[in-house]
Amino acid sequence: MAYERKNIQAMAAYVPGEQIDAPGILKLNTNENPYPPTPRVSEALARCDVARLRQYPPPTARNLANAIAKLHGLSGENVIVTNGGDELLRMAIATFVETTQSIAVARPTYTLYQVLAAAHGCGMAVFELDDNWQMPDNYGELLNHSGARMAFLVNPHAPSGTLVPVGQIKELAATYNGVLLLDEAYIDFVDPDIAYDSAQLVRDHDNVLILRTFSKGYSLAGLRMAYGLASPALIGALMKTKDSYNTDLISQALAQAAIEDQEYAHDTWQRVRGERTVVTQALRKVGYVVPDSQSNFILAAVPPGLEAEATYLALKEQGILVRYFKSEDRLQDKLRITIGTPEDNRRLLGALAAF
Ligand SMILES: Cc1ncc(COP(=O)(O)O)c(C=O)c1O
Repeated sequence: MAYERKNIQAMAAYVPGEQIDAPGILKLNTNENPYPPTPRVSEALARCDVARLRQYPPPTARNLANAIAKLHGLSGENVIVTNGGDELLRMAIATFVETTQSIAVARPTYTLYQVLAAAHGCGMAVFELDDNWQMPDNYGELLNHSGARMAFLVNPHAPSGTLVPVGQIKELAATYNGVLLLDEAYIDFVDPDIAYDSAQLVRDHDNVLILRTFSKGYSLAGLRMAYGLASPALIGALMKTKDSYNTDLISQALAQAAIEDQEYAHDTWQRVRGERTVVTQALRKVGYVVPDSQSNFILAAVPPGLEAEATYLALKEQGILVRYFKSEDRLQDKLRITIGTPEDNRRLLGALAAF
């Protein structure tokens, strides 16, 4: 006897990247930051008072939310702190989309969106990105026509790392009449020369909800902390559907220590950018096709004569994990590779050169 709802019975679970915890494994498959978090995180952990765990944590992570607001030049009313970006995605669907309505995605994209839609029991309008991973022309009108109540746009794009300029997102937000969820999980790795600054979009557009996470830029994937930025109206609605105490006291303190050390974080981002160039150029030299990435990973199409799946398996044999998306038609000849430390990348490039 199955007790779950019909849509849960019918759906497939999200498949996370492999998490193999063994000595010598090089993990370049889940886009973690290769550098540890700022030492201020350990200091904050040492200061945590266990006796204080007797009480509930601040329900809206007030101090952290204020630090986030200050960083982005916004107010505390524009911020919601969540237990990882994935929690924000789930809350957004629960808050803004009736089960009789649909979300929209532009594929290929983060596969969790479709899993969350299936779990919620709503529909999904699917659009295809073009060969350069760009949105269709008149995307805002297409979205309106589809009737989707919320559209997910990941920028920089995952899994290619390409970036849509803020101006184009602004136009989209102005045209689209649903909630535009701008997933900026990887935004910290964008070249500073591009001067990408989307935080002000939430002042001008009451339908924009931006996702940011501590998992990548702040090297805290294990902590499960993220936040949303949006108009007070959207944040107020999300606050109604969040768990009463969705983030714990220790995580709030550690995330705050991390975000207040911008100098350290910027340094890791710059190192990743430098290595991104090294890895991209090295792979292009040996025949891989790699679009310019503004993220902490690249999407590499294998050269003629090699198969992506076989290459992924051969790397795995050597203890190097990269991501191969077996079920995505357009990614069959490609590998998504997280940028590691110079040493990690040398190991990867050495292994690939041997194939
Ligand atoms: C595109 C994208 N969005 C959101 C997330 C969620 O990140 P987290 O739940 O670790 O904050 C991820 C994680 O890999 C991601 O790739």
